[in-house]
Amino acid sequence: MAVMSVRLLPVLCLALLSLRGSAAYDPDDIALLQAAQVPSPYGSLWPLPQAVQISPDVYYIPPGEFSIVHGAGSTAGPTCVVLEKAFQRYYDYMFGYEQRDGRDVDASAPSSGRLLQLEVVITSKENECHKYPHINSDESYKLIIDDSGAVLQASQVWGALRGLETFSQLVYRDSTGAFTVNKTHIADAPRFSHRGVLLDTSRHFLPLKTIFLNLEAMSFNKMNVFHWHIVDDQSFPYQSALFPELSNKGAYHPFTHVYTPVDVRMVIEYARHRGIRVVPEFDSPGHTSSWGKGQKDLLTPCYTDGQPSGTYGPINPILNSSYCFMDELFQEISLVFADQYIHLGGDEVDVSCWKSNPDITKFMSEHGFGTDYRKLESLYVQRILDIVTKYKKGYMVWQEVFDNHDQVCSCGIVRVALLCFSILAYVILNY
Ligand SMILES: *[C@@H]1O[C@H](CO)[C@@H](O)[C@H](O)[C@H]1NC(C)=O
Ligand SMILES: *[C@@H]1O[C@H](CO)[C@@H](O)[C@H](O)[C@H]1NC(C)=O
Repeated sequence: MAVMSVRLLPVLCLALLSLRGSAAYDPDDIALLQAAQVPSPYGSLWPLPQAVQISPDVYYIPPGEFSIVHGAGSTAGPTCVVLEKAFQRYYDYMFGYEQRDGRDVDASAPSSGRLLQLEVVITSKENECHKYPHINSDESYKLIIDDSGAVLQASQVWGALRGLETFSQLVYRDSTGAFTVNKTHIADAPRFSHRGVLLDTSRHFLPLKTIFLNLEAMSFNKMNVFHWHIVDDQSFPYQSALFPELSNKGAYHPFTHVYTPVDVRMVIEYARHRGIRVVPEFDSPGHTSSWGKGQKDLLTPCYTDGQPSGTYGPINPILNSSYCFMDELFQEISLVFADQYIHLGGDEVDVSCWKSNPDITKFMSEHGFGTDYRKLESLYVQRILDIVTKYKKGYMVWQEVFDNHDQVCSCGIVRVALLCFSILAYVILNY
């Protein structure tokens, strides 16, 4: 009986949770919201590191005298821009705002038990100061704050970035207003190597500053993949060097609602400084209405009663010109985006337009596809995979590609699927 109830507990909790979800603003919800407004107690680190020991001994930090520095023996130094910038940024997150309010915060720190430095030591020769984060980046770190000082140790810069975030979460102001940090030992490493957020900049154009703000919020939460769903049916804001007409005609506005090559570089660099990968998604053959505006004959003409209806469907999979175009576009994308992976979409292909088109019907019968349009889709997807592979990129696709196309699955793609299934948060923005 006891065993039984223990096993039932999670089920009950789930049931209660789903009840909660359906009731709109009942009194319990309001109480919960109010509770959420009370600041978390000190030591409520987010996300919770793997091993945390916090003691009641405290050190006072006089911001005017405190600095974050490269520690003795670190393989990184002043030329490591990622760390230099992170030192400044985290100093500002911790003390910048208070400094500006004009109060003499240093005076409130007692003169004994002071902490004046955080030493950051990178231990690996391959510190990756000048690299991009990748799927196998080492994000582990150790943080020790005790009588001999504060030392943050990481094998590579990526772990140091996560450790700086943890250190900033540990600093608080005591009842007298003095900046304080407890004696602490932390050893941490992420449980999942892909911790992503997807932003859609096609349905709703997001200005650069909004993307930056999101990347910053991601770094506060130690997330490390920005899945940039950059184009879709609604608009094509990516400004291509090879095919400028795509955004000239396909963006909501050709100048104000586009991401220029410089913008894209800035996003990638801003993300790199926070240990975040940028994985672009160029979804095809469906979700491409906006592509057709700037690239003639790319989309399939749809027919009604044997006549072209003037509307268009997915990318035309029977024309060589479609693949020439995709080849050149993906060559550019492979160079512009540094990450090892590109997301190729592949979801929600509406085959009704293909069914209406007599040329496609002829192609289907010539290739012995019968009426199985999944075979046509597979042919398209396979050719796109081949193109991306040629440019030495790995790829991700949506679940449907696996559901519809078992012949497409190779060992490589199955491995990538595991990435897709890991955390993806859909952020709906209202700015
Ligand atoms: C930090 O130190 C203060 C002061 O001794 C103590 O009250 C608090 O419980 C400590 N925090 C944690 C999480 O141990
Ligand atoms: C398309 O390319 C294939 C193979 O490269 C070739 O056999 C075929 O004739 C081409 N089709 C057209 C319409 O050019």
